[in-house]
Amino acid sequence: MIIKQAEYSGTYVNLESLPVDQKLEVALVGRSNVGKSSLINKLVNRRGLAKSSSTPGKTRTINYYQINQSWYMVDLPGYGYARVSKKEKDRWGQMVDRYLEQRGQLRGVLMLLDIRHEPNRNDVIMKEWLEHKEIPFLLVATKADKISRGARSKQLALIRRTLDLKEQDIPVCFSAQTGEGVEELKQMLQELLDSEEQIKEDS
Ligand code: GTP
Ligand code: MG
Repeated sequence: MIIKQAEYSGTYVNLESLPVDQKLEVALVGRSNVGKSSLINKLVNRRGLAKSSSTPGKTRTINYYQINQSWYMVDLPGYGYARVSKKEKDRWGQMVDRYLEQRGQLRGVLMLLDIRHEPNRNDVIMKEWLEHKEIPFLLVATKADKISRGARSKQLALIRRTLDLKEQDIPVCFSAQTGEGVEELKQMLQELLDSEEQIKEDS
């Protein structure tokens, strides 16, 4: 995939107001601070298109980015941000679940994991839930520049074990700093978008 064009196209706080134009969508999920916004920026080569910050919980809304005037990359609120009330956490969680469950034009999900950390309970739940709902997902191990080549295989094995991954589910190592993984990811995104399969009835 060659990304010729990318633009921010809106911020949404509830599902009822999401775009109705039926363009295909790929969504990003992952813990707060895992690097979702940075991945979008690197992929489209536009620093600052998606707001990224070192303060976890920056993205508390659903943000849409239109790519090549043909599909949307959807930045979902990060899960597990500690410094918000339980009530607010529940609200985000429900919004994300309902989005993933009901969005007819969703073609797949990029699930991001920090390569340095063992997946936590929320990661395990998300992965099992995606499988249960039969939503195609790609795993992305972010911040690959932060560990040595040697530590990589050990961390990938830990991720594999903790999430009980299938043989074919190999995380893509990605770095928003060095650009590692960008081409691989673009190719995988193209395959997701090209898949004929309708995941769910449009709702
Ligand atoms: P929320 O919106 O809060 O859920 O976070 P996010 O998942 O969008 O993370 P974001 O992209 O804002 O990145 C969080 C922090 O990690 C920022 O300080 C980024 O600069 C840093 N970061 C993200 N990706 C990388 C990476 O590949 N390498 C390095 N070294 N730092 C990264
Ligand atoms: Mg973000």
